[in-house]
Amino acid sequence: MKLTARQEKLLRQTFLDYQQTSAFLARPLVLHKAEGLYYWDIDGKRYFDAIGGIFVASLGHRHPRVVEAVKKQLDIMTFAPPLHGVADITLEFIDKLASVAPGNLNFVKPYSGGSESVESALKFVRQYYKQTGRSEKYKFISRYHGYHGSTFGAMAASGTGKRKTKFEPQMGGFLKVLPPTSLRDRFSDWKECNRFAARQFEDVIVHEDPQTVAGVIVEPIGNTGGIITPTEEYFAILRDICDRYDVMLIFDEIITGYGKTGAMFAAQTFGTTPDIICGGKGLSSGVLPLGAMIARQDMAQFFLGPAEAEIQFAHGNTFAGNPLACAAGMAVIDEIVENNLCDKARRLGEYMRSKLENLKKYGVVREVRGRGILLGVELVKDTRTNEPFPELGNALKRTALDNGLIMRIDPSWFAVAPALVAEVSDLDEMAALIDKSLKQALEQVTTGSKSN
Ligand SMILES: Cc1ncc(COP(=O)(O)O)c(C=O)c1O
Repeated sequence: MKLTARQEKLLRQTFLDYQQTSAFLARPLVLHKAEGLYYWDIDGKRYFDAIGGIFVASLGHRHPRVVEAVKKQLDIMTFAPPLHGVADITLEFIDKLASVAPGNLNFVKPYSGGSESVESALKFVRQYYKQTGRSEKYKFISRYHGYHGSTFGAMAASGTGKRKTKFEPQMGGFLKVLPPTSLRDRFSDWKECNRFAARQFEDVIVHEDPQTVAGVIVEPIGNTGGIITPTEEYFAILRDICDRYDVMLIFDEIITGYGKTGAMFAAQTFGTTPDIICGGKGLSSGVLPLGAMIARQDMAQFFLGPAEAEIQFAHGNTFAGNPLACAAGMAVIDEIVENNLCDKARRLGEYMRSKLENLKKYGVVREVRGRGILLGVELVKDTRTNEPFPELGNALKRTALDNGLIMRIDPSWFAVAPALVAEVSDLDEMAALIDKSLKQALEQVTTGSKSN
């Protein structure tokens, strides 16, 4: 893609998320149009979007039902002020999201994205403990490799070193444990590794003093770190630990929500109900910014009382519960429920997994991980030593784009999560593109060549 001088100038007037502008300019991706499973760039080149933008276009780009719902709402009202009012459609969205959330997670506050939802959950839990007589509980435990967002609380909960150190000192009261994948080489058995990994949370709670620990926050399937997929037992152990020490279990389902894993939420896929779910990304299929904090209804009662008690949640965002975004969110949920797209994610996932397993023929794949259609492939130099292969991932970034394929590559693993509108023939097309791109990347790395 050749950019004009003006486009280059404009790119220097902004920045790309978490990447150097010079690297982007060397291989830019300026997109113009999207529909279903495809993007088109400004030169008219088509890309297969294997990752829904970035785990966002859960039903594909510009899904007609979602677009129609937003168009309808455009003619009614586009903004309601959360400080002194609420849109009727926002209340309907709250009801709908609660109806598909697990257990008694019925207390819903819509936001404009993932970081807002996580930030809100952290504050909600701290205030909850203050108002229930346990004000010394304030610490959160999360995992290395986890990513929960860019704001200060969400960043402090994140375990991605390079995304954090430039902004130190971090907020206090955030502790970390290792995810199971970081411990697996010390165990011969994956299940045993997961048991150990889960029990780390208890070790930290005990050593910190349970009276000071407020919450545990994890992504059920961790994206950063390579689609880290613990066992079901891991979550059952976490639930038990949190119950025994009176600690809130928060699932960051910003990536894993809305059908991808084979259920509306990964909480249902893994059979563990947390106290709070944070949502974002695919909740509006990318049509408008939308996130949500979904908490246990009984927690909310501690924020209700006479006005002079001042026990309301001391938190707010101007665009929270935006009517247009809520219209999009309702259409997404309806589409998933009415068309059994969770079942479809399971079916397609089986098929896609077998296609990705085929890549093992190249001798550089350690593992295919994930649930449903949220899948990741770990790249290694040699399947006997399992040494990570970032050079291959970096080459794959180039070959995939050249071949018109968009995935998440980071760089010793890559992830796919095609939109739920995909059919088997689409997965065949996607798998062929991945195979071709990986083969070419491997050739480039072994011969030291680089395509333009
Ligand atoms: C697991 C997870 N949590 C939180 C966030 C933050 O969401 P947002 O970028 O919408 O603020 C992200 C974004 O990538 C994420 O992947």
